[in-house]
Amino acid sequence: MGFLDMIKRAAEQNRSRIVLALDVKGPDALERAERLLCETAEYICCVKINKHLILPWGVEGLRGLIKRAHSLGLPVIADCKMCDIGSTNFVEAFTYFDAGFDAITVVPLPGWAEGLEGVFHLARGRGMGVITVILMSNRGASEFFEAVIYDEELGVFDKLYKVFARRSLKWGADGVVVGATRPEAIRQVREIVEDLPIFSPGVVVQGGGVVEALRAGASYVIVGRAICESDNPIDKAREMCELTRRFS
Ligand code: XMP
Repeated sequence: MGFLDMIKRAAEQNRSRIVLALDVKGPDALERAERLLCETAEYICCVKINKHLILPWGVEGLRGLIKRAHSLGLPVIADCKMCDIGSTNFVEAFTYFDAGFDAITVVPLPGWAEGLEGVFHLARGRGMGVITVILMSNRGASEFFEAVIYDEELGVFDKLYKVFARRSLKWGADGVVVGATRPEAIRQVREIVEDLPIFSPGVVVQGGGVVEALRAGASYVIVGRAICESDNPIDKAREMCELTRRFS
């Protein structure tokens, strides 16, 4: 089953739109991450793994965690924000997919030819997901993602994230990332990307609202610290899941 079918099925089964960012730190992080995953599995629809675990353990060291997520019916995203030349991107993507990850995040900046083309082809052949990061959630993201550039394909000036949104659709991306801190941008991107999933990070700690993001058109909300660093992660995951249930 491909990434999009996996996340859709998990979202329906658990009636949840929460992607859990397993951002756990410290020497026993892997053990705690697995525990957290098992404890919150019924309230989430997907797991996202970032540098917090990838750097200390490497992709090989994460095979067990990925298998555990799969056994719970949850797909796993590697939030690697790939952004290099094509040959390097290909090796990176191959390594993630080979270790069991179901999807990766990419930054569209390298473009298609000798940039991301090979990654999209590789993913397609294996039923894996490629999610483009088109507008980040942090305050400084407006410096460049919202800068106006000339879109040569359309012959118009537009904000960079909107150009990225159109390219994501054209390239056949499996989703786009738009920060929950910018609901108006989510609305604009929803108009462009049609029914492509929008993943929204940046809720609670970064100030974005779960309901506001979903109401604006986000498909899934990515939650890290609000759950992982909570005194009671199970209650917090349940509470956040319930916020998303009215959109199921
Ligand atoms: P928090 O703790 O803020 O963590 O809930 C969110 C998770 O998502 C990542 N993150 C982003 N990823 N675009 C992305 O692709 C973004 O704009 C963005 N903002 C946060 C973050 O690294 C963490 O894993």
